[in-house]
Amino acid sequence: SPTRPDHYLAALQQSGNVISALTAYDYPTARLLDEAGIDILLVGDSLGMVVLGYQDTVDVTLNDMVRHTGAVARGSKRALIVSDLPAGSYDDAGTAVASGRELMDAGAHCVKLEGGEEVAPQIEALIAAGIPVVGHLGMLPQHVREEGGYKKKGLTEDEAQRIINDAKLLEQLGVCAIVLESVKGNTAGRVREAITIPTIGIGSGEDCDGQIRVTHDLTGMFPWFRPAFAEQYADIATDISKSATNYIDALAKMRP
Ligand code: KIV
Ligand code: NA
Repeated sequence: SPTRPDHYLAALQQSGNVISALTAYDYPTARLLDEAGIDILLVGDSLGMVVLGYQDTVDVTLNDMVRHTGAVARGSKRALIVSDLPAGSYDDAGTAVASGRELMDAGAHCVKLEGGEEVAPQIEALIAAGIPVVGHLGMLPQHVREEGGYKKKGLTEDEAQRIINDAKLLEQLGVCAIVLESVKGNTAGRVREAITIPTIGIGSGEDCDGQIRVTHDLTGMFPWFRPAFAEQYADIATDISKSATNYIDALAKMRP
């Protein structure tokens, strides 16, 4: 059951199917995705862009994440709910635990935070406090401003080694899965070989135990930007626009 994320993920991994994960930020989306059979719902801080209209994830607050985690938890019966610790909510071990508790109290089954060795004390403290953790390596969107853009990771051998070493460290610390974002496919495959916990990729090729996408990309709900790797299976933006113009046209024909 999702209350034991490590067992839940191990069972999925052993089933031989690719683990399916999508983001959700609200009740109806969580309920629809959960009922469709998704394995993992991520309350991602991508919320900042696709729901709140910010340029990046950096301004998302812990209160934002708590509110949206609650909505997703109310809509979900079956899936594992992973909630992002937003930027600034895990600057040290004590802060990480206090923030993690808030997300767990809101209904998360585990929390995700970005980084490797540099956040080891925070990961250790969370796990010691009984808060299960998912790691996140490769492109770290909470650092996009220092990075000066979204960049592919693990292209050089040095960078590949650092990601592999961080993945091994995270596994030793006891994280239950690792998201690999924008990691060169071959490097993602090497990470998968190096650890036993599942890797969940986005923009990192097919050699991962699971795949995660931003639901708004999949459904065409955020038409102003869609990454090249994201499949699009619907065109919700067009349906919303059409609904509005049909309504406006219908009102124009009313003669009260
Ligand atoms: O916030 C998010 O949507 C994420 C995924 C891209 C993994 O962290
Ligand atoms: Na995120």
